[in-house]
Amino acid sequence: QRYRDPTAGDKMNPFAEQEAWEDHQIGKATLNFGSKNKKRMSDDYQFVFEDQIEFIKASVMDGDKFADEHAELREMSMAQSAFEKLQEERKSLPMYRYRDELLDAIEKYQVLVIVGETGSGKTTQIPQYLHEAGYTKRGKVGCTQPRRVAAMSVAARVSQEMGVKLGHEVGYSIRFEDCTSDKTVLKYMTDGMLLREFLGEPDLASYSVVMVDEAHERTLSTDILFGLVKDIARFRPDLKLLISSATLDAEKFSDYFDSAPIFKIPGRRYPVEIHYTKAPEADYLDAAIVTALQIHVTQSPGDILVFLTGQEEIETAEEIMKHRIRGLGTKIAELIICPIYANLPTELQAKIFEPTPEGARKVVLATNIAETSLTIDGIKYVIDPGFCKMKSYNPRTGMESLLVTPISKASANQRAGRSGRTGPGKCFRLYTAYNYYNDLDDNTVPEIQRTNLANVVLMLKSLGIHDLLHFDFMDPPPSEALLKALELLFALSALNKLGELTKVGRRMAEFPLDPMLSKMIVASEKYKCSDDIISIAAMLSIGNSIFYRPKDKQVHADNARMNFHAGNVGDHIALLKVYSSWKETNYSTQWCYENYIQVRSMKRARDTRDQLEGLLERVEIELIANPNDLEAIKKSITSGFFPHSARLQKNGSYRTVKHPQTVHIHPSSGLAQVLPRWVVYHELVLTSKEYMRQVTELKPEWLVEIAPHYYQLKDVEDSSTKKMPRGQGRAS
Ligand code: CDP
Ligand code: MG
Repeated sequence: QRYRDPTAGDKMNPFAEQEAWEDHQIGKATLNFGSKNKKRMSDDYQFVFEDQIEFIKASVMDGDKFADEHAELREMSMAQSAFEKLQEERKSLPMYRYRDELLDAIEKYQVLVIVGETGSGKTTQIPQYLHEAGYTKRGKVGCTQPRRVAAMSVAARVSQEMGVKLGHEVGYSIRFEDCTSDKTVLKYMTDGMLLREFLGEPDLASYSVVMVDEAHERTLSTDILFGLVKDIARFRPDLKLLISSATLDAEKFSDYFDSAPIFKIPGRRYPVEIHYTKAPEADYLDAAIVTALQIHVTQSPGDILVFLTGQEEIETAEEIMKHRIRGLGTKIAELIICPIYANLPTELQAKIFEPTPEGARKVVLATNIAETSLTIDGIKYVIDPGFCKMKSYNPRTGMESLLVTPISKASANQRAGRSGRTGPGKCFRLYTAYNYYNDLDDNTVPEIQRTNLANVVLMLKSLGIHDLLHFDFMDPPPSEALLKALELLFALSALNKLGELTKVGRRMAEFPLDPMLSKMIVASEKYKCSDDIISIAAMLSIGNSIFYRPKDKQVHADNARMNFHAGNVGDHIALLKVYSSWKETNYSTQWCYENYIQVRSMKRARDTRDQLEGLLERVEIELIANPNDLEAIKKSITSGFFPHSARLQKNGSYRTVKHPQTVHIHPSSGLAQVLPRWVVYHELVLTSKEYMRQVTELKPEWLVEIAPHYYQLKDVEDSSTKKMPRGQGRAS
């Protein structure tokens, strides 16, 4: 199978996906070269590394059956027919019939709400229509997506449909990755990126149209964007605003945008048979796998889509499934497993869109991303365990966690609908009908009402929006959460007592990071270790995919990992050591293999770090490396993360200092066996217990030194270190 090599790294240049997509085309084109070449092609593909692309291109070209120039000609004509086929596909989308009507409506109204079934062509077609109608002569068309994978993959698709290179006329922009150029007129981006663009261009002057897509997802950034675009539309009558959504929340959007007209695109939808389980499933993952295999063995052709909650779960499911398929013997038709989640390497993303070969069946293991953001053709069966991972936030403690939560009825219906796009479908809900009718909420609570708002508040303050309580929110956040965000920003010295942005805050806002991370970076100026701190920040932003631990080599992997923890330096500094050691080997891939480190993640960290370095320059912080002064590095970390401090209890658990709560060091931490008295942590994750992930030891007096307005001496006095009662033993 092609695209199977998990080690093939992200390419370093900003046009990485462009190359990946080209590979994809080559892969497709060769199918017509004859079976011999096809085979070679697939064999090659198992070992694709970025520097081998040229080699693959060459091997396609020098097929023994054809002379070079024949191959070239043939490839050109093939590309031509592929292009024509794409144009046919474009015309067959439900959207196409309404093209002119839609353009008329856009011409006539400044703000338009567009509603259409998922897969009808809103995201891929509307920006192209606008381009064809000449809007891009006046400025870019921007289209926002709540998810980065969607932004990338849709941009890739549209560039193909337009027959241009990704990054030229059609590009995308996601955090730490800008694949656009001066030529770019259709720009797909995450909603968070457009939000950041307001900082540099408060009236979005370079845009002629802004399309806030997937509006029904109601992400935090989308909700804030609503307020901002609504505001600029008032003084920019030339700016067109499109709010597009897959569900029937349209009235709500219309009301919010001063009764903007609603353009409905009638979708085609085939009937979907819904099946429920008779009793609740104890283990939904297992139930999902069993159901998928049952469908594969007993049901007529058609691909399967399974909704799972996250990368780890998807990887586990993939592994178990592969194992069980082997157990089924060779009589069973081929089952192609395609995972899709936010961090899936780009070169694997294209795979889910490849048509399933005759006689085989595809099973897509997806997160919520396949609910509405991405449409995969050919899905006939949907398996819905009824859960997703959702952020929840406790404004009292300021703690945020990702929890596996039951989905809403609206989500369940979207999921089911994915099976009826191209023909009648079936949806297997792994919960009871009673659960569906009685336990599921009607709609998902918008993110703004269940998240930490510090980031957004800092952003709005930087935009000069001070009166947050009266910001035009579609659904206002709880005022407690707003206050908590203001408090945190004040504690981080980003705001002064009057709630005004300080110089520190202004600098922090330049970084597309969580305010605590930004503060850690800004503080590194004082401790003269900015170079080290941005490496740590870059590594932290990659998440948990740095180390890998194959099942059969866990001991080796753990040993390799512990090398970086020598001296119990703590997880942050261990991450720094990983990064610097890799850099010393001149970013060697081999070194990564030897140390059980994911080269792909490291490359992402390097990209991120490069960008942070550029931002340091922007806020005029000198790049200084000081890797041996661990205290300086730890103090910088503490400057950002002091609200996340905890002290050891007698029983080996920890208690957070402010808003006391019992927490534990995550078993993956280098300090899990060490148990220092005082620690500062990066984040909390709730699994079986409330765990601190990425932990570093600190000295309690630092807390008072660094954040005197936040901690008093009494907060950090250890009962065991408390000496004599006050007043005694002093010469006063
Ligand atoms: O936005 P909406 O859900 O209305 O539809 P779309 O994303 O524009 O999708 C229109 C068509 O393009 C669907 O048939 C998708 O399968 C296809 N598409 C694709 O083949 N590859 C992508 N990366 C994105 C969309
Ligand atoms: Mg869409």
